Amino acid sequence: QAIYLRGFLGEKPPLPLRPEALEEAAKRRMSPEAFAYVAGGAGMEATMEQNRQAFARVALWPRMLRGAPPPDLRLTLWGRPWAAPLFLAPIGVLELAHPEAELAAARAAAQRGIPFMVSNQASHPLERVVEAAKGVNPEALVFFQLYHSTDPRVVASFLRRAERAGCAGVVLTVDTVQLGWRPRDLELGHLPFLKGQGLAMYLTDPAFLAALEEPLEGPALRPKPTLALLQNLLALRQAGKRFGLSLPQMQKAVRRFVATYSFPELSWEEVRRVREATPLPLLLKGLLHPEDVTQAVALGVDGVYVSNHGGRQVDGSLSALEALPLAVQAAEGKVPILMDSGVRTGADAVKALALGAKAVGLGRPYVYALALKGEKGVGALLDHFLAELELTLALMGVARLEELGPGWIQR
Ligand code: FNR
Repeated sequence: QAIYLRGFLGEKPPLPLRPEALEEAAKRRMSPEAFAYVAGGAGMEATMEQNRQAFARVALWPRMLRGAPPPDLRLTLWGRPWAAPLFLAPIGVLELAHPEAELAAARAAAQRGIPFMVSNQASHPLERVVEAAKGVNPEALVFFQLYHSTDPRVVASFLRRAERAGCAGVVLTVDTVQLGWRPRDLELGHLPFLKGQGLAMYLTDPAFLAALEEPLEGPALRPKPTLALLQNLLALRQAGKRFGLSLPQMQKAVRRFVATYSFPELSWEEVRRVREATPLPLLLKGLLHPEDVTQAVALGVDGVYVSNHGGRQVDGSLSALEALPLAVQAAEGKVPILMDSGVRTGADAVKALALGAKAVGLGRPYVYALALKGEKGVGALLDHFLAELELTLALMGVARLEELGPGWIQR
């Protein structure tokens, strides 16, 4: 109502409301490299496209005249209160959108009781992000998303840091054991990590820094002295300054990061070890197959996060929304299921909730909002999303989230 009334007073919203218009506006604001990194997907971007098509193929089926009270969006997950069935998905290198990056997004989310997930590739160290979130809301929920390094000392150290910082849980992403084939980035010769971006967790980590002097295996690079190389070195030195590291230290750090950040042979064995290594709620992110869900539940994870990484990993893979119902069935109600990939509107959220998700993750749209208006932008995006979600439920005659189920949709 407040949003409509502002329109009555002739006030325009601070951001475009339609997802395509938001993306278009951000494209004009961001550098071509930064925009390509965020907007791009794997291969032909067929999965990215399918993530949206899948939502179009599910129709909401509203009921009338139910005399329903205003919808209550609140829920409890892993014993903690969420203001709505919504969270900000883990997104790396947010400094590409705004220098305040995670700090700004986490504050906007915390203010609204919406959980924030800090990426393993964050631009600010986890501790600072949690501090920022709890600064605006002491009850703020911040999850840490982990990529399993080949260096077990770094994994252990990241987990300890998440525990000490007061994180609400650990999200182990298992669909990115290597970076997907991303033509937009490859064509631009752009990978932010090589410029020292998105490495805040590593450059502040005692275990990672202690290992910098150890020898590394892997291909030796014999760089040609080009202008691009010079620019990369300048960017690297600049990034190093933020963390008190010299250029040679940064060069070592980037090489070590590339050699160890992900684990191509990751298996259930590592999941078992992470499960044993931390008392925090553990979620597995990136599952699509029901048999993987069954195995995850048997192994004792606390939550399953259905996602195809926004179509950035396996091009041509199943959309997340289509994978959702079988994943829900496989979990047999033993653990909550979260989902993301293609969620753009409040109505999308209702579709995913009706198919059995407990909450949905917002990804690219919040990066665009961040690029356009920083913390205020992310706040406005969340306000718009929550308003549409609430209105959709009200118009459908749904008062409580528990009422949602397959009876509210047609496929
Ligand atoms: C991501 N995603 C991601 N996931 C993760 O677990 N760790 C990460 O560091 C990142 N980084 C990242 C960067 C960028 C630029 C994007 C777009 C995505 C995946 C993210 O959590 C989520 O699964 C997708 O963004 C969902 O797709 P949509 O809805 O954004 O299209």
